Amino acid sequence: MIKAIVYKSNTGHTLRYAKMLKEKLNIPCYSIKEAKTCLSSKEEIVYLGWVCANKICGLSKATKKYNVKCCGAVGAYPESEEYIKGLKNFNKVTMPFFYLHGGIDFSKLKGIQKSIVKMVGKMLEKENKPENEEIYKIFNDGADFVEEKNLDNMLKYILDKN
Ligand SMILES: Cc1cc2nc3c(=O)[nH]c(=O)nc-3n(C[C@H](O)[C@H](O)[C@H](O)COP(=O)(O)O)c2cc1C
Repeated sequence: MIKAIVYKSNTGHTLRYAKMLKEKLNIPCYSIKEAKTCLSSKEEIVYLGWVCANKICGLSKATKKYNVKCCGAVGAYPESEEYIKGLKNFNKVTMPFFYLHGGIDFSKLKGIQKSIVKMVGKMLEKENKPENEEIYKIFNDGADFVEEKNLDNMLKYILDKN
């Protein structure tokens, strides 16, 4: 039985997905820090982590400590088969995987992270490739794609398995 949702969030999109799952599944959700004191090792969990430079933050730590039954990665890039394949390879994902569209919240980004996001946006805009237009608009202007229906596939998987 899955005992909890464990997450790592930087600006809140992943936390919002974790809270939605908590409501739907009626199990607690803990940040990866809180989980240290609230969960025993090897416990069955669902893991959600934000994507930073292709890395699913906290996933390798969570995998070492808990029995991660499935993983959700929250990023700002639009969902595509190629992007998901790349994320799974880069993070050596072996468990069932779900991509959840997050966003960019400039009001919560600070320092170097804010500069990186702005730099990527400007760089992609300069390249002026039509296929990147959606991405640079998100990185330049900010966006919020979090919605409950994005969890449908993950939720179905968990309910079928649990
Ligand atoms: C420094 C930095 C690097 C990022 N790299 C990626 C990336 O490689 N792929 C992606 O889809 N999103 C990337 N993002 C966007 C975040 O994954 C996105 O804002 C996500 O919703 C953050 O989740 P959170 O609000 O829970 O922290 C990056 C954001 C920052 C600040």
